[in-house]
Amino acid sequence: MIINHVKIQGFRNLESVEFIPDEKYNIIAGRNAQGKTNLIEAMWIMSGCRSFRGSKEKDYIPINDNKMSSEINITDSARNQKICFEMTKGTDCKKVIHLNGVKQKGTKPLFDVFKCIAFIPDDTEIVRGTPEKRRCFTDMAYSQINPMAVSHLNRHNVIMNQRNALLKEIMQGNAPPDLLEIIDQQEAREGAYISFMRNDYIRKINKICGRLYQEISGGTEKLELEYKSNVYKAEDFEKLSTKQAEDLYFKKLRESADYDIRTGTTHTGVNRDDVIIRINGMSAKEYGSQGQVKSTALVMKLAQAEIFMKKSKESPVIFLDDVMGELDEKRQKFIFGLIGDMQVFITTCNENAILPEIKAKVIYIDGGKITEETENVSAYRE
Ligand SMILES: Nc1ncnc2c1ncn2[C@@H]1O[C@H](COP(=O)(O)OP(=O)(O)O)[C@@H](O)[C@H]1O
Ligand SMILES: [Mg+2]
Repeated sequence: MIINHVKIQGFRNLESVEFIPDEKYNIIAGRNAQGKTNLIEAMWIMSGCRSFRGSKEKDYIPINDNKMSSEINITDSARNQKICFEMTKGTDCKKVIHLNGVKQKGTKPLFDVFKCIAFIPDDTEIVRGTPEKRRCFTDMAYSQINPMAVSHLNRHNVIMNQRNALLKEIMQGNAPPDLLEIIDQQEAREGAYISFMRNDYIRKINKICGRLYQEISGGTEKLELEYKSNVYKAEDFEKLSTKQAEDLYFKKLRESADYDIRTGTTHTGVNRDDVIIRINGMSAKEYGSQGQVKSTALVMKLAQAEIFMKKSKESPVIFLDDVMGELDEKRQKFIFGLIGDMQVFITTCNENAILPEIKAKVIYIDGGKITEETENVSAYRE
């Protein structure tokens, strides 16, 4: 899958930005705070995902304007499509999404249309951050290859909100405790599904990460990922039927119901899961060096891309935001090798730090505008 046209009219500090990307390598260059990451983000949001900066959508609108608009044309093995994302101040900042000229209900349909993977400096949080970061990474990664999972995750979120609200009502004596049992039956279905999806994905990615990490570390270090379910033991995933898995999930929810009512929150289930990441048997979160943490995050994202490729036969677009320039030649070669034929957008303050054999289109951004574009700039940079 490639992006073959980008047109932005207002997105954060970007004013009017329009260009035709190279099918393969694109370098977005410029000084700090000029709008390089904004440009990546303006394309990324077309995947139906929220900002990878964790910021609010209304912040996409330029401070001194009242409208944002981003439009991309993409080509995959089947067809050309056009996605348009607009938002205007004052109308509750409601998103207006068009796919091939047809208005969509929200961003959800885009999830199936434009597939991309972004590498950002914050990815190290997957290793070092709270368990929620690892759950999010895992949920997003398997959803990309299994769109049905999105509905399960959404239903789970709705049910959890209901459950936690109900817990407080019961505690205050405003609702009967047996209402909780009905909710727990519903949640058992979603929770069991999510647990099994997570386990399956972590097992898959563990194999690939192990291999990639060995290569990137020169064969000296072993990376392992293990899913820690709050409900199931490792062997349960091998032997339980769907019905048995749901029953066990339900049983665990019921076991903690009294405690949950007293405290007003849910203590059992997928919201308490984690993924344990170990390097040579030691927790990467606790003991990993900065370099090890960075390499681990990178390898996990690369493994995600590999699984995605195998499953969909369609390559995702890769965004590398500020991660390439600081890697040595060996690591850059390793990454470019794995990226293979995928289309890539690389932001950097120093385009000369990117491997010279990478023949890229370079787009220079200054003050929210494109100031220069060059083709196959490898020679130009030497
Ligand atoms: N809603 C907005 N309106 C106008 N400018 C914004 C908005 N949000 C962020 N910016 C500006 O965008 C710039 C940062 O752009 P960014 O893409 O992160 O830079 P970089 O080139 O370093 O990646 C900052 O100057 C910031 O003030
Ligand atoms: Mg940036």
